[in-house]
Amino acid sequence: MSETRNGVPASQAVADGEENPYLLGVYAPVGTEIVADDLEVIGEVPRDLNGVYLRNGPNRRFAVPGRYHWFDGDGMIHALHFENGRARYTNKWVRTAAFDAETAAGHGLWSGVMEDPAGNPFGNGHGLGLKDSANTDVVFFNGRLLSTWYLCGTPMSMDPLSLRTLGPENFLGTLTGDFMAHPKVDEATGELFWFDYGPEPPYLRYGVVSPDGKVVHTTEIDIPGPRLPHDMAITENHAVLMDLPLIQDQEARRRGRYRIHFDRELPSRFAVLPRKGDGSQVRWFEAAPGYIYHVVNAWEEGHEIVMDVCRVKDPQHQPRITHPLARMLAYLRLDAQLWRYRFDLRTGTTREGPRDDDNTEFPMVDSRVVGRRNQYGYAVHIAREDTLLFDGLVRYDLHTGARQDHRFGPGRWGSEAPFAPRDGGTAEDDGYLVTFVHDERENRSEVVVLDAADLAAGPVCRILLPQRVPTGFHSCWVRADQLEQAR
Ligand SMILES: [Fe+2]
Repeated sequence: MSETRNGVPASQAVADGEENPYLLGVYAPVGTEIVADDLEVIGEVPRDLNGVYLRNGPNRRFAVPGRYHWFDGDGMIHALHFENGRARYTNKWVRTAAFDAETAAGHGLWSGVMEDPAGNPFGNGHGLGLKDSANTDVVFFNGRLLSTWYLCGTPMSMDPLSLRTLGPENFLGTLTGDFMAHPKVDEATGELFWFDYGPEPPYLRYGVVSPDGKVVHTTEIDIPGPRLPHDMAITENHAVLMDLPLIQDQEARRRGRYRIHFDRELPSRFAVLPRKGDGSQVRWFEAAPGYIYHVVNAWEEGHEIVMDVCRVKDPQHQPRITHPLARMLAYLRLDAQLWRYRFDLRTGTTREGPRDDDNTEFPMVDSRVVGRRNQYGYAVHIAREDTLLFDGLVRYDLHTGARQDHRFGPGRWGSEAPFAPRDGGTAEDDGYLVTFVHDERENRSEVVVLDAADLAAGPVCRILLPQRVPTGFHSCWVRADQLEQAR
């Protein structure tokens, strides 16, 4: 095991006088970047599991005065590389422009989303003066890993094995504007689909990147005002974007603040357009007001587009606890359920309804079925705690609605768990789910590997890690054949 000390002690990160739970325990930032390959394994690492599990998340390097929001932390990628029955752990901060500026200064320069951004050095392309930390998702495209930011920023290109930041990704100079957190990659065509949103017109732009990594299409999507779309969907021929009634508060914006509110008087609206269609070709589908962070998958079925999502049950419910940070805590206590939309292209009507009522989120499918009719979706189960914690994994059979569960056990909290196909596998669920789990009682993190077809059977193996992996955001699985492409 080699170790380099690049960071600051985690203790400094919480030395701002706050009892902020998102800086403590399973959320506390780690201050070191390590590579570790002599890992203790309980069970046996499957030899037919080859590729790398990558997970992004907030990991503040420098404390700054003011309130800390979980979303403020600097992006850090944690990775476990599986190769022929062996496993190697690596973690690295994403070297964004802001991270480099703070590193050069030796202290924090950006305040968080809950404070006035007026004194911050720079923001994103939309004049939002917040730190673009690239802390939200990791997406593999065209041989590179892209780390992305939820408020739209500069995608950072990274090496998927060393986690070295290669630089800002501008798609050979063709990217204009900013880039969303959850672009969609169609592995059959090699294309990438994305949007960009902001507080000034055009409020929403949509685009396509060709398999050789150039933006080849962009169009403006006409929506009535600034929105906060988080995710999108593709099908074989279409893209689906959202106009949901979660709205940036313009009064707060005039005061230089960033606030959002949910308008129950407005419908949810879904823009369906041809993949390379123009904004004028959008067909709008209306549905009940709601908010959606994440799409499970979408596909075409006859004259309908089917889209499965995790739909938030009550987008702005009242905080149930009294705490100076109650608003953030309530907002982060995700309460979502599996929900299906059917958009009828013939009649222009929407059908919608729940497929489950339990609180599951951070959905994943095999990356090869994105945009195609698939049978299985996997999600984390949200724990009944005051902070956002994942106490298990759920597998949904999207055809039948059947469900399987795995719970990590008391005091054990997981991460988003991508599907990792087994070498030579043919069935859609022939493979594994891979997740980081932090055991609070033993104060130790590990990687848990489960059989995707049989979650109830419990871990195939557990790989113990020499460093804590804080609870974080999104992940991906990059197969060995894709890593070959990266080399
Ligand atoms: Fe997300």
